[in-house]
Amino acid sequence: MFSSRKIGPPVLALLLAAGSLAHAAEPGSFGYGTAATQAQIAGWDIDVRGEDGAGLPPGKGTVNRGADVYAEQCAACHGTFGEGEGRFPKLVGGAGSLRDDRPEPTVGSYWPFAPTLWDYINRAMPMPAPHTLSADDVYALTAYILNLNDLVPPEFVADRNSLPKVKMRNRDSFIWTDPRPDTAARACMNGCADTGDVRMSSTAEGRDLTPRTTGPLDTMQPK
Ligand code: HEC
Repeated sequence: MFSSRKIGPPVLALLLAAGSLAHAAEPGSFGYGTAATQAQIAGWDIDVRGEDGAGLPPGKGTVNRGADVYAEQCAACHGTFGEGEGRFPKLVGGAGSLRDDRPEPTVGSYWPFAPTLWDYINRAMPMPAPHTLSADDVYALTAYILNLNDLVPPEFVADRNSLPKVKMRNRDSFIWTDPRPDTAARACMNGCADTGDVRMSSTAEGRDLTPRTTGPLDTMQPK
C-alpha cells in the first residue's frame, strides 16, 4: 500500500475527486466506464450455432460469387481450389481419411456443421483482415467452399435457411452427450455427502504414475 506522505497534493486531489465520483455512480456499478450500447454488444455477439444455424444473419450468396471473392481474398493462402499453398491449411479433401494413419481433417472431411463454416470465415478470415467481409460475401464463400468439397451443387445459394440443411460428411461421428458419469453430476447444495453406493475403490497412490519430485525434466523421472 502507498502512504499519503508519498503522494503529492495534485494526486491526492485526483484521488479525492475519484472518490466523490464513485458516490455519484449508479447503484451496483463501480463508478467508472459507461454502459455498453446495443450496437457495441451486437459487435461482439456474432456467434452462430453449428447445429441449427441460430445467429446466422439475413443475406445470401452463390457459388459463383464465392469463387470471385475467394480468388481475390483467399486463394493466395488456401490455393485456387482449396488445396492449400505451402503450409496454409487445405480447405478441401481428406474425405474418408479420418481413420487412416494420416487422417486429413478439412472442412469437407471433418467439420460436422455447415453454419460453423460461415461463423469461422466471418470471425477469422481473411487472416490479415478479419471482419472486413459483408454477410453476403461470407455466404458466397461458404457456398463456394462447400461446392469445392462436393457437398452442394454449383447452383446452391447459401443463406440462413439452406446452410443448416447441408449434410456434412462427418456429421454423425461426433458424440454430443458425454457418457462419463462424472460429467453428469447434478448441482448439490445440501446432503451432498450422501452418495448412495458410490465408494472410492482405489487410488493412484503408490503406482508410480506421477513424478515424485519436481524440478528440471531430467530429475522428474520416478526413481
Ligand atoms: C494470409 C493467409 C490467409 C488468407 C488470405 C486466408 N486465410 Fe484462411 N486460414 C489461414 C490460416 C493460417 C488458417 C489456420 C488458422 C488456425 O488454425 O488458427 C486458416 C484457416 C481457415 C479455415 C479453417 C480451416 C480448418 O479446417 O481449420 C477456413 C475455413 C478459412 N481459413 C477460410 C478462408 C477464407 C474463406 C479466406 C478468404 C476470405 C481465407 N481463409 C483467407 C490463412 C489465411
